[in-house]
Amino acid sequence: MTDVLARYEELVAAGELRPDEDQRRTAERLAALARQLEEQPARGSVLWRMLRRAPAPARGIYMWGGVGRGKSMLMDLFFGCVSMTAKRRVHFQEFMLEVHDRLRVERAREKGDPILPVAAALAEEARLLAFDEMVVNNTADAMILSRLFTALIDAGVTVVTTSNRPPKDLYKDGLNREHFLPFIALIEQRLDVLPLNGPVDYRLERLGGHPTWYSPIGQAATDAVRAAFFRLTDYPPEDSIHVPSEELAIPGGRLIHVPKSLKGVAVFSFKRLCAEARGAPDYLAIARHFHTVIIVGIPILGPEKRNEAARFKTLIDALYEHKVKLLATADAEPINLYPEGDGAFEFERTVSRLMEMQSRDYLALGHGED
Ligand SMILES: Nc1ncnc2c1ncn2[C@@H]1O[C@H](COP(=O)(O)OP(=O)(O)OP(=O)(O)O)[C@@H](O)[C@H]1O
Ligand SMILES: [Mg+2]
Repeated sequence: MTDVLARYEELVAAGELRPDEDQRRTAERLAALARQLEEQPARGSVLWRMLRRAPAPARGIYMWGGVGRGKSMLMDLFFGCVSMTAKRRVHFQEFMLEVHDRLRVERAREKGDPILPVAAALAEEARLLAFDEMVVNNTADAMILSRLFTALIDAGVTVVTTSNRPPKDLYKDGLNREHFLPFIALIEQRLDVLPLNGPVDYRLERLGGHPTWYSPIGQAATDAVRAAFFRLTDYPPEDSIHVPSEELAIPGGRLIHVPKSLKGVAVFSFKRLCAEARGAPDYLAIARHFHTVIIVGIPILGPEKRNEAARFKTLIDALYEHKVKLLATADAEPINLYPEGDGAFEFERTVSRLMEMQSRDYLALGHGED
C-alpha cells in the first residue's frame, strides 16, 4: 500500500500540486482510513469467519467544498492507495440509477422492504464505496438515502464521498425534506465531515485565462485543446497515446465509446456524438458522468445537416443543465454554426448557451449543481 499522505507530499514536492493546508489535513485523514481498511480482515477470510459477523466498518469521510478544490483529486489518490480489492469508486448519480434499477427488480419479487436485500448485495460486492459528487436533487433518491446508507454502513461498508455542499445543505428546499433529514443526521454521526473549501479553485486556474472555444479547426486549435486536456488531467503529454478510453453505459443497456477519458474529462469527436443515432439519454449520461467535455471537429452545419444540428442542440442542453464545462474546436464561432435550416430559430438558444458556457461565471459553477 502506498501511503496517501506521502504520495500527496510527493506531488507537492514535485511541483505538480501547490501546497494547500486543507488538502494536506484531508490527505492525512484519508491515509489513516486507508491503513485501517487494510488492517481489517478480508471478507470470507478465516479471521473474518471467526468474528461471525461483519466487523464494524472503518469510519468514512465526507469531503465537501466549492468546485476545483481538489476533492476528486484526493479521492483518486486515496482510492489508488487502497490495495484491497473489494472497493468501488462510482459517480454518485450513476450509483443511484443502479440502485433504483436493483430496487425495481427486488420489488417485482414482492418480498418486504426491497432496500435491505439491495444494500446487502452492494455490501457483498464492496467493503469500500467511494462516491464522487454527491448531490441530491430528486425526491426518489431523497426518500431512500437514509435507509439505504444506514443498511450499507450496518453491513460493514465504509463510505467516502465528495460533495459541493455541507451535509446540512443537501437537498436544500427539496420536496418533503423532513423525510430526508435522517440522512443528514446519519452522515454527521457516522462520517467525518471535512471541509475542503479554501480560496483557490484550481480547475478554474487551469482553465482560467485560456479560451474554451477554438476556431477555425486546425493545428493551432488542436494543440490548444490538447494542452488544456493535459492541464486539466495532469497527464504527461508525452504519454498521450496511453490516455485511457472508456465504454460509458447509457441507461437502457447501450454503450458509448469515449476515446479519451481521464479524471472526469472526456474527449469526443463531433462525428461520434452528433452524426450517429444518439439522443437525450446518451447525452444525459455523458453530462452526468463528466465534469468537462472536449468536442473536436464541429463543422459549419448547412441546412441538410438538420439532424446533426438537432442532436447538437440536445447535447448542449444536457451539458448546460449539468453545468458541464465545454471546450471545443469548431469551424466557426457559435453564432455562425447553423445559421439556416429546420430549427435554426431554436438553435439561437444553443448559441446563447454556448456563449454563456465560455464565461468565467459559468466555468466557476459546480458540476451537476442546481
Ligand atoms: N493543490 C493543488 N495544486 C494544483 N492543482 C490542483 C491542486 N488541487 C487540485 N488541483 C487540480 O485542480 C483541478 C480540480 O481539482 P478536482 O477535480 O479534484 O476538484 P474538485 O474539488 O473535485 O471539484 P468539483 O467540485 O468541481 O468536482 C484538477 O485538475 C486537480 O488536479
Ligand atoms: Mg470533483
